Amino acid sequence: MAETDIKSRKDLLDVESLSIGEIEYLLKTAGPFKELFRRSVKKVPTLRGKTVLTLFYEPSTRTRTSFEVAANRLSADVTNFAVSTSAVVKGESILDTIETLQAMRTDYIVIRHAASGVPALIAKHTKASVLNAGDGYHAHPTQALLDAFTVREVFPQTEKKKILIVGDILHSRVARSTSTIMRKLGMDVSVLGPGSLVPKGRPDYMNAFWNWEDALAWKPDVVYLLRVQMERQEQQFFPSLAEYHRVYGLTSERFKQVEGEGIYLMHPGPVNRGVEIVDEAMTYERCLINQQVENGIATRMAALYWLKPGEDD
Ligand code: CP
Repeated sequence: MAETDIKSRKDLLDVESLSIGEIEYLLKTAGPFKELFRRSVKKVPTLRGKTVLTLFYEPSTRTRTSFEVAANRLSADVTNFAVSTSAVVKGESILDTIETLQAMRTDYIVIRHAASGVPALIAKHTKASVLNAGDGYHAHPTQALLDAFTVREVFPQTEKKKILIVGDILHSRVARSTSTIMRKLGMDVSVLGPGSLVPKGRPDYMNAFWNWEDALAWKPDVVYLLRVQMERQEQQFFPSLAEYHRVYGLTSERFKQVEGEGIYLMHPGPVNRGVEIVDEAMTYERCLINQQVENGIATRMAALYWLKPGEDD
């Protein structure tokens, strides 16, 4: 693993609070973990005897599974807390649930919740290391790490590389965390989306485009498509999914231009085919979506390796 004087932390809650040194350390640490995947034995004993609990109050395929695989590859014991069949449905509060889990001496808690701030609240009330697996509109730090790792694989020098993030910026914790990490690594970040889904209070560095023509004229190195999050939209932000695809989606015509210019494509998943992206773009050789998923395991291994739970009494 990376030799460093970077100190461990107890929790990983957002990207804003990570220093550039900490981000570089995590990306560097993830490299050897990824190399491990090519070996016949994919496990190291780093977290043997430690327990990791995944607690997902919202659905997940990639994040939950990759945390589980990451913890297994570090030889930790993993328990998936099934919210829908737990005492949560009988009205038990989050803090009471955490106190119960703390009594079981859990070392790491991986949590996803629809409300922003819940992982930080839990972190204050437990000695376990808390890893935010996505909270409301707020943050998705391990997604940002895997995205940065993926960009670094294709562009070892990320300084001044251009990232265009497309879609529902307003409701996206991925956009918030990934744009922050890209910026910290020296990249230029712009966004493209409907006026209703691009926050007015965006950071100064983040230029906004309102149509594909202008956005592609900016010559992005990577186009990062976001999922349209119908579940987070309390009002209608665009007329229909077909209309969204026509105006803001990667249509066949736009994909031809992207392919012709050799622009890389990324998406955090799950993908709404025919809405954010046309089918044929999914098999484009510079589409990095599957690489992002694989890198999610290596970067989450790095995060688990780095964090240090508080001492027991
Ligand atoms: N990217 C992401 O968070 O995917 P899941 O919802 O499947 O975890």
